[in-house]
Amino acid sequence: MTETIPDRPAEQATAAASGAAATEQFRSKQRTGTADVDTRRVDTLVSELLAATHDIIRRHKLTYAEYDALKAWLIRVGEDGEWPLFLDVWVEHVVEEVANENREGSKGTIEGPYYIPGAPRLPAEATLPMRENEAGTPLLFHGQVSSVDGTPLAGALIEMWHADDDGYYSQFAPGLPEWNLRGAVVADDQGNFAIHTIEPAPYQIPTDGACGSLIEAAGWHAWRPAHLHLKVSAPGHQLITTQLYFRGGRHVEDDIAQAVKPELILDPGPAADGNGHQVRHDFILDKA
Ligand code: DHB
Ligand code: FE
Repeated sequence: MTETIPDRPAEQATAAASGAAATEQFRSKQRTGTADVDTRRVDTLVSELLAATHDIIRRHKLTYAEYDALKAWLIRVGEDGEWPLFLDVWVEHVVEEVANENREGSKGTIEGPYYIPGAPRLPAEATLPMRENEAGTPLLFHGQVSSVDGTPLAGALIEMWHADDDGYYSQFAPGLPEWNLRGAVVADDQGNFAIHTIEPAPYQIPTDGACGSLIEAAGWHAWRPAHLHLKVSAPGHQLITTQLYFRGGRHVEDDIAQAVKPELILDPGPAADGNGHQVRHDFILDKA
């Protein structure tokens, strides 16, 4: 692999620390419980998962050495707190595909492990919280939120979070202000918004934990293309969880999380004020 790892903040970002934070974040959000899942459904899903596993073992004649390596690795994923990362990188994209297959409005994609609710509320034209002299190319991201029937959605909420110019997310890497590059923008009475931020760097999933070991053992790479995360919502409409990418950016064509869709690739041009880039992107929400 020829890519250089971006400079680390003074205190090292580690898989175990970001994994622990991601695990804690997932637990606190409790999107799903376990008690309300039907017994027959659990039976079907788990039985088929096991049958697929048994089939792979037979077809490839899995050895005891490989079985033990798998066991050791699974134990380590838990110890490193990397289940949220593992699942969101290698599994979530298909869950998202199935969940949203009937939508008519804008495309969504995976949420990933780093969303935090409750980011600072900002007016329709705003700058995301960032450090003084935050590194990275300035980006003006603007557009309009409307309903599938074309009605502009006044007061729609555009929650945005993304990595910094070193590929780090606030609250999951040390040394960053709490809400750095996270904000909840309230659109104006025509559903319009304009968000000033910086372009994030490509994101490398932690290489020093269990997921990193798997990537190395399998000869894969650990990269996601640079991306903006968004949740867009309005009363009476279905929330969209999505990400947007940058045309021509590294790993847009080979995202390890397989979360890129053609509709999600932005094509920024020079900013009107000569400072960095700007791009328009509209969101269309399905009715609830
Ligand atoms: C992961 C990280 C991301 O930033 C993302 O968007 C999706 C997945 C991860 O490390 O699992
Ligand atoms: Fe991400």
